[in-house]
Amino acid sequence: MNRNLKGKRILITGASKGMGAELAKLCAKAGARLALVARSKTELEKLEIEINSQGGDAKAFPTDITCEIERENLFRQLKDHFHELDILVNNAGSGSWNHFVDGNEEIVRQLMEINFFAPAEMIRQAVPLLEMGNQPAIVNVASMTGRRAMPSWTEYSASKHALVGLTEALRGEMARFEIDVLLILPGLTITPFWENLALKTGKADLGLEKGMSPLDAAKGILNAMTSNKTETVLGWDAKWMLRLDKFFPRLINWLLARKVEQLYASN
Ligand SMILES: NC(=O)c1ccc[n+]([C@@H]2O[C@H](COP(=O)([O-])OP(=O)(O)OC[C@H]3O[C@@H](n4cnc5c(N)ncnc54)[C@H](OP(=O)(O)O)[C@@H]3O)[C@@H](O)[C@H]2O)c1
Repeated sequence: MNRNLKGKRILITGASKGMGAELAKLCAKAGARLALVARSKTELEKLEIEINSQGGDAKAFPTDITCEIERENLFRQLKDHFHELDILVNNAGSGSWNHFVDGNEEIVRQLMEINFFAPAEMIRQAVPLLEMGNQPAIVNVASMTGRRAMPSWTEYSASKHALVGLTEALRGEMARFEIDVLLILPGLTITPFWENLALKTGKADLGLEKGMSPLDAAKGILNAMTSNKTETVLGWDAKWMLRLDKFFPRLINWLLARKVEQLYASN
C-alpha cells in the first residue's frame, strides 16, 4: 500500500547533513512533521529554521544516539512533542576506510555503536510509539556493503551487515504490530561522510566524483517510503555490484582479491 507523507510524524537520525538533511527537506515539502536528530545543535537548528520558514514543521532534537541517556531523553521529549510516531528513519552512520590489520579495536566498536547498536536501540524505544502511529514504518539506511562486504570497508561492512540482519529479522516480528520495515542500500554518495571517516588509509581510487548527490539518494529513500518498497538499492555502482555478486560471487571475490594484490604489491 502506498504511503502519503502528509501529516506523518517522522523522526530522521543523521538529519544535520548529507542524505538525512536532504531527506528532511523533501519530507517537509511532502507535508510531514519532522523530528530532526543528530549531535550538532547548530546545524540541526539551521535546518529547523530553513524548513519552518518555508511553511514546514520541523523541530531539532540534538542527541548523540550512541548514548543511552541521551536516547531516553530524546524519546521523552518526542512523546511530549508528537505523542505517537509514524516513521523512524535510522539514517545516522559513519565509516572507516582501511584494511583491518591497519585498524584497531576502537574503530570496530565505534562503527558498531553508531551503525548497529544505536539504530537497534532507537527501534526498541520507537516501537511503542510506532504501534500507535498511522501506517507506521521503520526505514533503515544501511549500505551496499551491508549485502556485499568490500575490502577496506571491513569494519563498516560488518556493522552494516549486522543492520541488514536486524532489519530482515524485524520485518517478520514487526508484522504483528503492522509496522513496515524498509531497507535502503545506497552506493557511493557525495556527502560529508567522506570527511568524517575514522581512518582513511585505504588505497583504491574510489571514483567518488561518480557518486550520487545526496539529493538523489534522498529522493530514492523518499520513494521507498511512499511506495513502501521493502528493499531499495540506490546508485549505479551499488546496483551493478549487487547484481554481479548475486550471479557471480566467486568472480567478484577473485576480482577484489586481485585488485588488493595489485594495490599492495610494492608493500
Ligand atoms: N555517503 C556514502 O557514500 C554512503 C554510502 C552508503 C551508505 N551510506 C550511509 O548513509 C547514511 C547517511 O550517510 P551520509 O553519507 O549522509 O553521511 P554524513 O553526511 O556523514 O551524515 C551522517 C549523519 O549522521 C549523524 N551522526 C553521526 N554520528 C551520530 C551520533 N553518534 N548521534 C547522532 N547522529 C550522528 C551526523 O550528524 P552529527 O555529526 O551532527 O552527529 C550526520 O547528520 C549513513 O548511515 C551511511 O553509512 C553512505
